[in-house]
Amino acid sequence: MERREQLYEGKSKIIYATDNPDQVIQYFKDDASAFNGVKKGTIVDKGGINNAVSSKMFQYLETKGTKTHFVEQLNDREMLVKHLDIIPVEVVLRNVAAGSLCKRLGVKEGLEFPDPILEFFYKNDDLGDPMINECHIDIFKWATKDEVAQLKEQGLKINKLLFDFYRERKIRLVDFKLEFGRHNGEVLLGDEISPDGCRLWNWDTNEKMDKDRFRFDLGSVEEKYQEIYNLVCKD
Ligand code: TMP
Repeated sequence: MERREQLYEGKSKIIYATDNPDQVIQYFKDDASAFNGVKKGTIVDKGGINNAVSSKMFQYLETKGTKTHFVEQLNDREMLVKHLDIIPVEVVLRNVAAGSLCKRLGVKEGLEFPDPILEFFYKNDDLGDPMINECHIDIFKWATKDEVAQLKEQGLKINKLLFDFYRERKIRLVDFKLEFGRHNGEVLLGDEISPDGCRLWNWDTNEKMDKDRFRFDLGSVEEKYQEIYNLVCKD
């Protein structure tokens, strides 16, 4: 697979063209950012860990019938994926209260929900990814009604699969963000599934094992990313 010109550089990944117009390469950087780019830094080896963890998660979800953009992990930093027309809607699933939900609703961190909460955010850095609902998606034509139904159905299904996957490894999947895109008329799961876009707590102690360690300067960032890598990739 020939790596060609850079198509896009985001905060944590670079997208390169390949000699196949249907496929692109995701390159995972060590760069970390938080609070919509206000806090910036580096997490050593994060790119390699997020590439390996995401590759494992995509392969796992594929075995359970979820359609994803994953083709193959090429090397430490690069993943070959199907070229998506990204739907500009971030799908967030929550099992336990944390992050922006606590701020918005005055709920105490750690409250367990009897059922998952699904939220939509508009993928727009200039606006700070504001929360939206189905009316906004429909009126502004970010996705069709049928696509929104798929985002909800897939989001809830993926939440159940990932919650059980992590529970078996003594990790609580608190919340996470998914992105989807269109490819040859199908809606596929895209982006990455890594400790950058998930909240993962030790099941017994509630110790945070994800990007919140970087966001809030909790220390041992690299160590906790490495622990997640070991739990997900080395069993
Ligand atoms: P939040 O509490 O900041 O709304 O985030 C919920 C979860 O989704 C958390 O695991 C982080 C992830 N997330 C991202 O990774 N990127 C985003 O742009 C958003 C809105 C959420």
